[in-house]
Amino acid sequence: MTALADGRAGELEAHFDETIARDRRIEPRDWMPDHYRATMIRQIAQHAHSEIIGMQPEGNWITRAPSLRRKAVLIAKVQDEAGHGMYLYSAAETLGADRADLTAKLVSGRQKYSSIFNYPTLTYADVGVIGWLVDGAAICNQVPLCRSSYGPYARAMVRICKEESFHQRQGYELLMTMMRGSEAQRAMVQDATNRFWWPSLMMFGPPDDQSPNTAQSMAWGIKRHTNDELRQRFVDMTVPQAGKLGVTLPDPDLTWNSERGHYDFGAVDWAEFTAVLKGNGPCNAQRVAQRKAAHDDGAWVREAAAARAAKQAARDRAAREQDTREQDTA
Ligand SMILES: [Fe+2]
Ligand SMILES: [Fe+2]
Repeated sequence: MTALADGRAGELEAHFDETIARDRRIEPRDWMPDHYRATMIRQIAQHAHSEIIGMQPEGNWITRAPSLRRKAVLIAKVQDEAGHGMYLYSAAETLGADRADLTAKLVSGRQKYSSIFNYPTLTYADVGVIGWLVDGAAICNQVPLCRSSYGPYARAMVRICKEESFHQRQGYELLMTMMRGSEAQRAMVQDATNRFWWPSLMMFGPPDDQSPNTAQSMAWGIKRHTNDELRQRFVDMTVPQAGKLGVTLPDPDLTWNSERGHYDFGAVDWAEFTAVLKGNGPCNAQRVAQRKAAHDDGAWVREAAAARAAKQAARDRAAREQDTREQDTA
């Protein structure tokens, strides 16, 4: 590199560092370190994949919703998740990522999505518990991301969080209704809570001492709190909600610690988390196969959309040329 180019690179890097230090946003046109770009693409893609795969466990219940009202609510929720996915793929594209490439990485297992969506949904109570716990955990994770240093991601998060908060409330309202119902309905809610509690705690990722990327992500303003901080926040927020609902969280070690001002809770089974991440959860193969089939089945839509866009572009070009000719002869 020449001295001049060297100086320019230093200037760009200094500008990036200053933007981060002042808690301002990095925008797509700005210079950024390759590692920052790659980390952002990976995080946004993983988030987008989670939204899209996350449609499956609940989408599974749309045709079996217990009433027209519940069906309408569930369709709206699942549709929101599709919207979140599309929004996030667009944010990844501002970093130069290619959407088709991201999808290829998802279906070939080279990019991950949240481990929680590899668990089955066995009863309608699962729809409520997913809204309450899974969307609840997502909110804890995502509210701080509204201040992420990457502008398009931070702005996408603002809208997404508003919708996640609707999802959380619809889940809680569904569970409240079931808890006022029959003994069998109450048992369904308790069973769903038992199955989803621990996997929800895993959504915050490995413990801080086993999370090697946290320090760099915090320094870059990509992450605002550590995994353990967010997990604690979620537990503290959820325990009183469980009490109001009348369900027991499946953890005998769950107790208020007045010294810490937080709830203490038992050990998460990290071996299970690792196994699910590696592809050995109860539904990994099914989720990915279903996503791949949907992508393959949608090929004709993408082809038709591309053909229409090409036709439109050709028409626009012809109209522009016609305009120029008329101006020339005028
Ligand atoms: Fe979502
Ligand atoms: Fe959601």
